[in-house]
This record gives sequence, C-alpha cells and structure tokens, in this order.
Amino acid sequence: MQIERGSFNTKLGIIAATAGSSVGLGNIWRFPYETGQHGGAAFLLIYIVCVIALGMPVMLSEFYIGRKTQRNAAGAFDVLKAHKFWKIIGFIGIIGAFLILGFYSVVAGWTIEYIYDSVANNLADQTASQLTISFNQFISDPIRPLLWVVIFLLCTFGITLGGVKNGIEKASNVLMPILFVLIILMCVRSLMLPGAKQGLEFLFKPDFSKITGEVLLSAMGQAFFSLSVGMGTLITYSSYFSKETNLLKTTAVVATLDTVVAILAGIFIFPAVFTFGIEPTEGPYLVFITLPNVFNQMMGGYFFSIFFFFLLTIAAVTSTISLSEVITAYFHEEFGISRRKAVIWLFFLVSLLAIGCSLSVSRINTFTLFGMNLFDLFSFISSNILLPLGGMLISIFVGWYVDKSVLKAELTNEGSIQFKLFTVYVFLLKYVAPIGISLIFLNQLGLINIF
Ligand code: TRP
Repeated sequence: MQIERGSFNTKLGIIAATAGSSVGLGNIWRFPYETGQHGGAAFLLIYIVCVIALGMPVMLSEFYIGRKTQRNAAGAFDVLKAHKFWKIIGFIGIIGAFLILGFYSVVAGWTIEYIYDSVANNLADQTASQLTISFNQFISDPIRPLLWVVIFLLCTFGITLGGVKNGIEKASNVLMPILFVLIILMCVRSLMLPGAKQGLEFLFKPDFSKITGEVLLSAMGQAFFSLSVGMGTLITYSSYFSKETNLLKTTAVVATLDTVVAILAGIFIFPAVFTFGIEPTEGPYLVFITLPNVFNQMMGGYFFSIFFFFLLTIAAVTSTISLSEVITAYFHEEFGISRRKAVIWLFFLVSLLAIGCSLSVSRINTFTLFGMNLFDLFSFISSNILLPLGGMLISIFVGWYVDKSVLKAELTNEGSIQFKLFTVYVFLLKYVAPIGISLIFLNQLGLINIF
C-alpha cells in the first residue's frame, strides 16, 4: 500500500522539531531532581560523559536508520532487510513511549495547574514551607490533577493529528526560542540569591565518593531520556528529514542545546534550593516547590511565573508529540490504520495510563511494586532500562551489522560533507556503548561489582 508521508519543511524546522523533542520536562523538571538525588556535580559529570560517549552516537545512528529508510521505528528494519529480531528496537520504542507518556503527562498536568495558580496569584506571599504544603495538597487530590492531564493530552494529540508540517513544525519554531530567553533571565535572578554559592558548588564541584552503581545507572538513564534517544523517536523524526539535512550538525546542535538547557535549569534551581532551605533530594516535586519561591522574590514575578509555566507546558508538548508520533507512525504505516484513528485510540489508552500514574501519587494510592508507585516505576523502567537497552541494540546494529561504506555515504550526504570522527563514532558504537551499558546494568543487578 502506498502511504503518503509528511516531511519537515525547512532546515530550521528540522532542528527546532528535534530539539523540541529533546528539550522538555526532562531538562527542567527531571534533570534537577535526579541531580539533587544523586549527589550533584558527580552526577552531572557522568551525565555529560554519557551524553558524549553514548547519547550522541546513538542519536546519529537513529538519524541514519530513519532518514535512510523513511519508515517508522519498527518498519525501518524491514526496509534495511535486517533480521526480524531487530524490529525489537521498534517495539521497545512503542512500549517505552506508552510508559513515558503515562508519567510525563501527569507532570505536564502539574505545570498547567501552576499556570492557573500563577494567573490567579495563588502562590504569592506563601513561605517556602507553605508552598511545599500547597503542592502536596494539590497532588494528593485524586481528581483535580486528572483534569489537567486530560487537557494536556488533548493538546498533544490535537497537534499530532494536525500532521507533521502544520502541527509539530509550526509550534516548535516559534516557542522554543522564547523559552530559552526566559530561562536565561531566571538564571540571572537565581544567581543573585544568597544561596547561589552553595548551589553552584553543589552543581559543579564534584565529590567523587558520591559515585555509586545507582548514580551511574541514573546518569545514563537521564542522558538517554533527555536526548530522546534509545527508542526510535529520532528514527521516526528523521524519517521526515530531507536528504540534504546535515545529520552530523543536527546531532551536535541538538545535543548541545539539550545539555545547555539542563545545566541552566540546574543553575536556576540549586541556588534557590539552598536559599529556601529545600532538600536537594526532594525528588519529582523539587522544581515545583522551589520555583514559586524564586518568582515570589522576583521583580515582575507574577508575569514571569505565568510565562514560565506556560512555556514549560509547551516544551512538554513538543516532547510528547514526538512520543505519540512514534506510536502513530507505527500503526499508520504497518497496519494501514488512518492517523486519525490511531491518534484517537492512543488518546484513550494513554489517558488510562496517565490516570493510573496520577492516582499513584495521590492519597488514595496503596499499590507499590519493588517499593515504587506506578509513577516512579514507569519512570524507572523506561529511562533506566528500556532506553539504555534500546540504545545498546541500536549501537550494536549500526556498529556491527551495517555496511560502513553505506553508513558513511548516508551520514556525509554521499560525501558532500566531512565526517572526520567517523572511526571514533564507529568505535563508540561497536565497543564503548555495548560494553559500557552492559557493565552498568550488570553492576546494578549485583552480578559484578565495580562501584
Ligand atoms: N527528551 C524529552 C525531555 O527531555 C522527553 C522525550 C521525548 C523522550 N521523546 C522521548 C524521552 C523519547 C525518551 C525517548 O523532556
């Protein structure tokens, strides 16, 4: 069956959409709390090593697979005439996308609540401990967060339905640059707080004794999560790239932007954390109980707060549309289901998962597995298991099974751009990624003991 495929319009659109997928709650919500829970600067250091040695090579490999085949994350392997086994990468992606959408939309819902609270000026004049209590009251309510989750999912799937050009590209082009400017302004304000020195030391002065197996696994998981790599999202997106797209430059720009935004988020969060006496190990609520304190101290904080939570919600949408696109493209191309029908089904299924995650952090939750509630479990399984596993398989596939001259021709646009580090890239794929990721897994399972 012939299926009409969309594509991204412009060079800027390609970068903006891919960066839009990468930059999201992962940078501004997840990165600071993971860093806070896992020892600060030491975590940041390992995170950066993982971005460079594992994340970027996998990103480039996903670009290779996607643009070469112009198919969804599972179907791509048919086009490459690879053994059926490799389609597992696509399936990992689809399961991963469901799990991530499940908990991510809940957090996106919290950001919408904060837009509302900012507009209504509900958080002004509250002390740090009152802000913490307000947040806890909000999420422990079984019903209210669900409303925002559903609104958020309607936006996500509405844009996905709009198709590649009209929805995804236009939204990303306008809104991502504004977010960037706002983040910089917030860093400036945060650095004027009395806890700035302590915050910066926490973020940048590594204490190597803090490195444990769990820190390694979490930093690796966070690197994959933040870059959106390891589960075929970028295979799907790059299937909409043009043959002229410079894949090397796209990888460098997106990875740099993503890392810079995460570090900037650290710079505006940690000074505030120490100023207002909040525990860095607070967990998923960290950003939500820290930021309103900063806004309360900021000149024009009322408007900043509205604007910031609004843009954060948009950053979340540009990420969730990339996740829903993985699933939509798969069902559309492999089973000939119309995009419309796929999206509607997806809306209902993801809503169910998200409702489960939301209730799991509310006061009516009683269910836990391995000591985690559903929300933490989804986050752990997707980021710390599925993404690195998918990343490892992608590395092995491209490193060992793809003809290197074909690979190089695709990545250099038939020799029209230079790729000086090609051998380094292949080495990272063949050896460093598979061995590194396996060691971190085995260590965590207690089968070997490095840390
Ligand atoms: N990277 C996004 C963020 O940082 C989340 C995300 C979007 C994602 N698509 C993904 C994570 C694919 C893993 C895989 O918010």
